[in-house]
Amino acid sequence: MTGDDDAAITADGLRKRYGAVQAVDGVSLSVRRGEFFGLLGPNGAGKTTTLEILEGPREPDEGTATLLGERPWPRNPRLLPRIGVQLQASAFFERLTAREQLATFASLYGVGPRRAEEMLARVGLAEFAGTQAEKLSGGQAQRLSIACALVHEPELGAWTLTTAQVEDQ
Ligand SMILES: Nc1ncnc2c1ncn2[C@@H]1O[C@H](COP(=O)(O)OP(=O)(O)OP(=O)(O)O)[C@@H](O)[C@H]1O
Ligand SMILES: [Mg+2]
Repeated sequence: MTGDDDAAITADGLRKRYGAVQAVDGVSLSVRRGEFFGLLGPNGAGKTTTLEILEGPREPDEGTATLLGERPWPRNPRLLPRIGVQLQASAFFERLTAREQLATFASLYGVGPRRAEEMLARVGLAEFAGTQAEKLSGGQAQRLSIACALVHEPELGAWTLTTAQVEDQ
């Protein structure tokens, strides 16, 4: 265990560079258990890169992070059942219905189909349970993606809401 027990997420001095682009330049933050925390910023500001470092798949150039008291890097399999993360782009099995999709994610975590059905209702997709993922609207697909990330009732959930900013010319 690292850090204090009440901290869900800590980041201290995170930096990440892709070639000439300094994507993350000294991010420090702390999120307590039970707290809702939003990371806002313009397109390209480094939000996704920061989330990837916190979740574990991306190694920071500098700085340290903890998630539920554990280090996420190198990839930490103990953390995976305890967190649910929906990144910006979701890949679904296109031919599966929303219900089948969620039941598949649930089974990967050893969760039964009843919980999957509850989650569908909770994100307002009950009437689309029989719809194939490729036929859902963008927002409905985002809802399904959030349901997939939270179906195993993780201690910590993170999701991405996408917007595009277009400057007036
Ligand atoms: N895999 C990568 N390789 C090279 N450059 C990358 C990579 N991922 C992101 N970048 C660059 O790093 C910067 C930060 O990108 P990032 O995706 O973290 O931003 P973001 O805040 O999530 O943006 P958005 O609001 O558009 O989702 C951008 O300049 C982007 O072009
Ligand atoms: Mg992003």
